[in-house]
Amino acid sequence: NRYSRITGTGSFLPPRRVTNAELAAQLAATGVETSDEWIVERTGIRARHFAERDVGSSDLGLEAAKHALEMAGRQASEIDLIIVATSTPDMVFPSTATILQNKLGIAGCPAFDVQAVCSGFVYALTVADAMIRTGTASKALVIGAEVFSRLLDFNDRTTCVLFGDGAGAVVLEASDTPGILASDLHADGKHVEILCVPGGVYGGKVHGNPLLRMDGQAVFKLAVGVLESAARATLAKAGKTDADIDWLIPHQANIRIMQGTAKKLKLPMDKLVVTVDRHGNTSAASIPLAMDEAVRSGKVKKGDTLMLEGVGGGFTWGAVLLDF
Ligand code: ACO
Repeated sequence: NRYSRITGTGSFLPPRRVTNAELAAQLAATGVETSDEWIVERTGIRARHFAERDVGSSDLGLEAAKHALEMAGRQASEIDLIIVATSTPDMVFPSTATILQNKLGIAGCPAFDVQAVCSGFVYALTVADAMIRTGTASKALVIGAEVFSRLLDFNDRTTCVLFGDGAGAVVLEASDTPGILASDLHADGKHVEILCVPGGVYGGKVHGNPLLRMDGQAVFKLAVGVLESAARATLAKAGKTDADIDWLIPHQANIRIMQGTAKKLKLPMDKLVVTVDRHGNTSAASIPLAMDEAVRSGKVKKGDTLMLEGVGGGFTWGAVLLDF
C-alpha cells in the first residue's frame, strides 16, 4: 500500500510585528476607534505580522518551504509537486506556485495554486495526498502563504484587526505506513456574501470592492457547526474516535471558535494548538504555521495523531486526520 506522510514542516512570518495597541494608535489617526481590550476579548488576537509592500505570498512561502525541506533532509531538486494554497496570489496569473518553484531554483515538476481561502491548506494537503497515493508524485511541497494585509479595509474596524500575513509549509512524501489517515472536504457557494473580496479585474480596471468584507456573526455561527461535522466525518472514515486525537490544530481565526470546536470534540484545551494570539488570522497559512510551531517547540512528537481543520470563504470547510 502507498500512503503519504509529512517529513518536514516550516514556517515564516514577515518581521514587522504590529501589536493591537500599535494598530489601534494607527487607526485612531484616521478616526477609526478600537482597543487592545476589545480585540483580545472578542478574538484572542494580541498581535499580527504585516509584510512590506514589495513582499508577496511567494516570498513568504519560499522561506517556509526552505525550512520544511531542511527538516525533511531534502533538496529542492528532489521535489516533484508544488501546491500553494493562497487567496492572495502574487499575480492574477501565473500561479504563485510556479513563481515559488522558480525562486526555489527548480523546474519541471507540476506546480499550481489551490484557492479555498482559510480552508486552503486542508484542501491542498488532501490533493497532494491523493496525487501521492496514485503515484503521480512522491515528494510534494504543500504550502499555505498569504498577505491578507493587502485586502484589508483599514476604515472597517470589524475586519482590519483580525488578519495577518505569513506562510507555513510541509514536505509530504510517499510512505509504506499511513501518515494522512483520512480527510473530509466541503463547499457551499450560497454563502459567498458573508465573507468575500467581491472586486475583480476587468478591462484593465478593478470593478467592485477589492477589499475584504465579512459578516462576522454569520461566519461565527456557521463555523463551529461545520468544523465539528467535518472532524467527526474524518474520524469515522479513519475508524478513530475523539480520544485518539493528540492535538487539534484548527484554522486560527478566533479563539472562541477554536475553543468551541475543541469543546464539541470533548478535547481538553491543552490539546488545542493556539497561535492566533500572536499571528492573527493568516488564512491558508494559519494551520501549517501553527503546526510548525507545535513541532519545533516539541509539543507535537513523531507518531502523534493530529486533527487539522479549516473553514473559510466560499463557504469552504474540511478536516484532515494524520499521524505525524
Ligand atoms: N473595535 C471596537 N469595537 C468594535 C470593533 C473593533 N475592532 N469591531 C466591531 N466593534 C463593535 C461593533 O461596532 C459593535 O458595536 P455596536 O454594538 O455599538 O454596534 C460591537 O463591537 C459588537 O460587534 P459584533 O460584530 O456583535 O461583535 P462580535 O462579538 O460578533 O465579534 C467578530 C466580532 C470578532 C468579528 C466575531 O463575530 C467573529 O470572530 N466572527 C467570526 C469571524 C471570523 O473569525 N472570521 C475570520 C475569517 S473567516 C475564517 O477565517 C473562517
